[in-house]
Amino acid sequence: MIESSEKKNKELAALLEVSRVLTASFDLDANLNSAMKTLSEHLDMQRGCVYLLDPVTRDLRIVAAHGLTEEEIKRGKYRIGEGIVGRVIETGSAMFVPNIGEEPKFLNRTGSRPEKQGISFLCIPLELKGEVLGVISVDRIYSERHGSVDDDIRVLTVVASLVAQFVGLWKSYQEADKEREELRRQLKERFSIPNLIGESEKFQAVLKAVSKVAATDATVLLLGESGTGKELIARTIHYQSRRAKGPFVAVNCAALPESLLEMELFGAERGAFTGATERRIGRFERAQGGTIFLDEIAEVPFQLQAKLLRVLQEKVFERLGSSEPIKADVRIIAATNRDLMEEVKKGRFREDLYWRLNVVAILLPSLRQRREDIPLLVDYYLRKFNKKYKKRIEFSQEVINIFKNYHWPGNIRELANTIERLVIMAEGKMIEKVDLPMNMFHTEETNSIQSTLWQKASLLSEVERIERERIIQALKENNYIQSRAAKALGITTRQLGYRIKKYKISFP
Ligand SMILES: Nc1ncnc2c1ncn2[C@@H]1O[C@H](COP(=O)(O)OP(=O)(O)OP(=O)(O)O)[C@@H](O)[C@H]1O
Ligand SMILES: [Mg+2]
Repeated sequence: MIESSEKKNKELAALLEVSRVLTASFDLDANLNSAMKTLSEHLDMQRGCVYLLDPVTRDLRIVAAHGLTEEEIKRGKYRIGEGIVGRVIETGSAMFVPNIGEEPKFLNRTGSRPEKQGISFLCIPLELKGEVLGVISVDRIYSERHGSVDDDIRVLTVVASLVAQFVGLWKSYQEADKEREELRRQLKERFSIPNLIGESEKFQAVLKAVSKVAATDATVLLLGESGTGKELIARTIHYQSRRAKGPFVAVNCAALPESLLEMELFGAERGAFTGATERRIGRFERAQGGTIFLDEIAEVPFQLQAKLLRVLQEKVFERLGSSEPIKADVRIIAATNRDLMEEVKKGRFREDLYWRLNVVAILLPSLRQRREDIPLLVDYYLRKFNKKYKKRIEFSQEVINIFKNYHWPGNIRELANTIERLVIMAEGKMIEKVDLPMNMFHTEETNSIQSTLWQKASLLSEVERIERERIIQALKENNYIQSRAAKALGITTRQLGYRIKKYKISFP
């Protein structure tokens, strides 16, 4: 009786120890080896092996063994249905061989039992959710002082279920890890230099700067009109940098009011303000080890700019309502379509922050400044949307010329959207001039001067723009006879001549 309770205690201790070593790390081999070692030490079992079934080849492989040499491990390969181990895999039920010397099914593949006499063999399936993942096998020499086979099977069944759970967990972790790795690879490829379209000198200079800064941890300021690719470039810098494995966190600084923006950036401690029932992790914290992209940086309120400056200078920040400094291992990329120096002059943007951000500034050219890239971009987006909508649309040369000459105030985003719309709407195979939206011709008839005009577009007031339109209209209606056009407009010929010069209106 005492003996039996002593034995139970021993079993329990062994099981506890097995479950402890199985959760000690996430290393499959190490954990399983320790588990087998524990088992033989505590329960006086000679050899112990864990075999796992390869899901692809359906081969069994020894992943952990105690009491076997490397050589023996290598030899221990079984096919399903082969030998006792194979049988257990096939049937999913445990087997016991009292004396392997008398069992013809016992193949002794590992060659580790020269003296087969007197050794018993136990083999238990590793089962998880109805699927057999492998087996555990144990050699045992039974003598008077050992317990019964039933006891052993009971203990080993518990061990097998612990091992199966660990293996299952390990497998799903491996799979998730593989998926993560694959996603990372895809992102790295998607945001790479070859995917940035443009062969013009201006754009090539941008690419050169991008690859240079990607190799560093320097703060980058991206300047450029709307739709010129600021966010795309920011991601490219991140995914081509040593931080690619870390997160890329984008914050649109114009999207939130001051109080919320502050909390969004730095986070807040529980109870930092009424209603703050939980700790909030800010974007800087989320970006640890990666890159934070501060979009529309010019819109950050003045007060908050001081806090940003501190992160840039000291690389630390605090959550709202906390005084505990958090170290920021974060690369900062900021972007704006405003003239930041102008904002500084007007007292809306801190000069010290401006200089801190301006370590490396990359100016993205507008599409008007790199017209030679337009056909390339058209080609790229046409392919992309043809693929997406399973179409085979083409653009006539005339259309491409109109694209080349249009002023593209929304830059690449506008170009991409225009092409997508055209591809969706297209009925025939070829897109012609008539298919284009009206606003694209608007400038076509004033071709020769339009580029200089549009460079100054921001300076022209709306009134001036309308005046110019009306003059062109009047000239056209009066066969370009200036005196008649002037009369129609209610101004003198001299006044008209002056305006024609001012607005650089050309005649056919
Ligand atoms: N060089 C390029 N090659 C191909 N596509 C580009 C390129 N630059 C930008 N794009 C595409 O143009 C669109 C606009 O780019 P993005 O959003 O990066 O511009 P942005 O400068 O951040 O604009 P905004 O100031 O309006 O936020 C995106 O769809 C982007 O993929
Ligand atoms: Mg943007």
